[in-house]
Amino acid sequence: MLTPLLVANWKMNHGITEAAEFIQFLENAEISSDREFVVCPPFTSLHLFKNIPHGAQNMHWEESGAFTGEVSAAMLKELGCTYVIIGHSERRQHFGETDDIVAKKVATALAHGLTPIVCVRSVDEVTPALVGKEIVIAYEPVWAIGTGKAATPEHAQDIHSQIRKRVGDTVRILYGGSVSAENASSLMAQPDVNGLLVGGASLDVNIFLKIIQS
Ligand code: 13P
Repeated sequence: MLTPLLVANWKMNHGITEAAEFIQFLENAEISSDREFVVCPPFTSLHLFKNIPHGAQNMHWEESGAFTGEVSAAMLKELGCTYVIIGHSERRQHFGETDDIVAKKVATALAHGLTPIVCVRSVDEVTPALVGKEIVIAYEPVWAIGTGKAATPEHAQDIHSQIRKRVGDTVRILYGGSVSAENASSLMAQPDVNGLLVGGASLDVNIFLKIIQS
């Protein structure tokens, strides 16, 4: 069985003060769960996450160079990141990320020992370049992101089973989009839902903890 993975994607929320409080709370919490979790804060707080598993929300595909404002895979490794979110729908929509860019970032992340969490909005975005790779896929339908209208467990299972046919049995497929403490367990009960990518509900440490343990 695949170990379920719960990912907090803070997006552009929480500065270092809030991040430090979140970390302190998590470090003192008794987390009784056989699930894996990882927090993906903005770059500015990654250095605070020493004992809490952490990942980045984005990276560049080149090793280094004249790419003002960008961050490399090696830099994320130096900060102790284990995961990196790639191709989030907000990056595809606002920053022009294409399937080709996603494929390049996935290759670089893997070369540096980072596990990519590749976000897709549809089955079609699970391109051949992603097949056979040690990655995590996150299905996030745009209509469910930040709207309070999560997919039904049946819809998630339907799409995940189609993605499963492309990527095989060893890849974890997460669901994302308006995940809450209330709907987490019914989504997780689906056979092809191997975890959750949580936006808004992950900003509150108590709610995120409930989701981890639900
Ligand atoms: P919400 O959970 O806020 O809908 O965001 C989903 C998401 O985009 C996580 O990556």
